[in-house]
Amino acid sequence: MDKINAVITGVGGYVPNYILDNDEMSTIVDTSDEWIMERIGVKTRHVLKDDERNGAGTSYLMTKAVQELLQKTQVDPDSIEAVICATTTPDYLFPSTASLVIGNIGLKNAFGFDMEAACAGFLYAMEVGAGFISSGRCKRIIVCGGDYLTSITNYEDRTTCPIFGDGAGCVLMEGTTEEYGLIDRYLRTDSHYDPLHLEVSGSASRPTPEKLEQRKHLLYQEGRTVFKYAVTNMSDAVEIVAKRNNLTKDDIAWIIPHQANVRIETAVARRIGVPEDKVMINIDHFANTSGGTLPLCLWEYEKQLKKGDNLIFTAFGAGFTWGASYMKWAYDGSKFHQ
Ligand code: UT7
Repeated sequence: MDKINAVITGVGGYVPNYILDNDEMSTIVDTSDEWIMERIGVKTRHVLKDDERNGAGTSYLMTKAVQELLQKTQVDPDSIEAVICATTTPDYLFPSTASLVIGNIGLKNAFGFDMEAACAGFLYAMEVGAGFISSGRCKRIIVCGGDYLTSITNYEDRTTCPIFGDGAGCVLMEGTTEEYGLIDRYLRTDSHYDPLHLEVSGSASRPTPEKLEQRKHLLYQEGRTVFKYAVTNMSDAVEIVAKRNNLTKDDIAWIIPHQANVRIETAVARRIGVPEDKVMINIDHFANTSGGTLPLCLWEYEKQLKKGDNLIFTAFGAGFTWGASYMKWAYDGSKFHQ
């Protein structure tokens, strides 16, 4: 039997309506547009407000993204066999965000589950999804990545709150026997609790009044430490994947980096020798949407992609979790399913 490769055959995305700009951010914490632009590269971020979400969390963003994907590709919703949701901000620990999305869309033949790998979640989820496809178990699945990150953002901490925004993206994955799709990956996880964590969020630490008072239910980050690890680990991962696939900097059509800080993105590109105009960047208007950054990059740049383009995705997140994946893009323009 011919080898099956997992290819992306469609992209959907959604960002919520409310736009929080740096001037408004400056009324919330002691900061300025100049500082945020120079040190992070964010101008505006989309925020999911209560009046939009109607009681839902990340499932609202992902449902919108999947609806757009199905509308764009016109594939039969009954042909979707699995939905994987990479998120660190699920609506609930259970039921899963995937089960909520499946219910909202009315997918009759799909199973689904959530995956948590912080900001590297989508990179890992693509890998898991590709396994279902290349093993022949599923013919058509959806992989979502997204977060309602402002639900865990500490708006009293000026070192973190300007960084984050809300949004979700998703991709359709199918199989091909041609040489396209996910070709190689280098994924790693190690263990660093202190620099980046959400203490009150699981079974280890209960939400006592004291802990809530100390804002332990909100994201904590030591920015400088995380910055250094992010640059080194993402650059190393991209370099490893490029080298072992004999990709020179001229062979790489696009680097798709996690949107954590524009200085991290450009530092990774510099290390690899890829010019900045081959790096997908949308942090200026979407900020860091955690699991959403990679699919939202594809969503915005899809029209510029060409069949056969060599793409390298790279991400880094809490854990730490990180890696890079090499993909040969399978279609021109915005639609595989014409
Ligand atoms: O997505 C998961 C992975 N996350 C990341 O990759 C994030 C990595 N880290 C970063 O992106 C950066 O470290 C930050 C954006 C978080 C911070 O930037 P930085 O250049 O590392 O700033 P810093 O923490 O070293 O702070 C420099 C100065 C400090 O003042 P002093 O001590 O030098 O007087 C801060 O108090 O900037 C000050 N500062 C601010 N000033 C104005 C920190 N935040 C702000 C702010 N506005 N919002």
